[in-house]
Amino acid sequence: MNQKFSLNVDGKVHSIEADPEMPLLYALRNEICLNNPHFGCGLAQCGACTVHMDGQPIRSCITPLSSVGDAKVVTLAGLGTADKPHPLQTAYVEEEVPQCGYCINGWIMTGAALLRDKKKPTEAEIKEALSGLKCRCGTHISILRAVKRAAEMMG
Ligand code: FES
Ligand code: FES
Repeated sequence: MNQKFSLNVDGKVHSIEADPEMPLLYALRNEICLNNPHFGCGLAQCGACTVHMDGQPIRSCITPLSSVGDAKVVTLAGLGTADKPHPLQTAYVEEEVPQCGYCINGWIMTGAALLRDKKKPTEAEIKEALSGLKCRCGTHISILRAVKRAAEMMG
């Protein structure tokens, strides 16, 4: 049975009515029309759907609405804007990382959480933090360069 939810997303509260078991990803894309988090696997295996919930990167495809409560959800659109991008978004452009772009959301949201918690991550720490993400275009080397570049920009 549907219930009412007030979702705090990118600093705005959105009221929706939905099944409590519905994944947060569906609410973000279909109810709130935020389409940066992507549906990849739907099984927490690829990371394309990653958003931050109270600062932690989570897989929104397996996060039921009932577990969100009043947590602050941040999507890629809330991380930075075209006018004021997050350093990792800037680094992505400067390193010309994207190919098809389908996976970008997951890598940037996960990388941004790493850079917030660790100012100067080692290459091993970057690889470890990003190890659960998939990019079918094989942009992994340029992603690594972008995270290092963003760390320098933020340092
Ligand atoms: S769509 Fe959520 S991890 Fe793949
Ligand atoms: S850029 Fe295409 S899947 Fe990563």
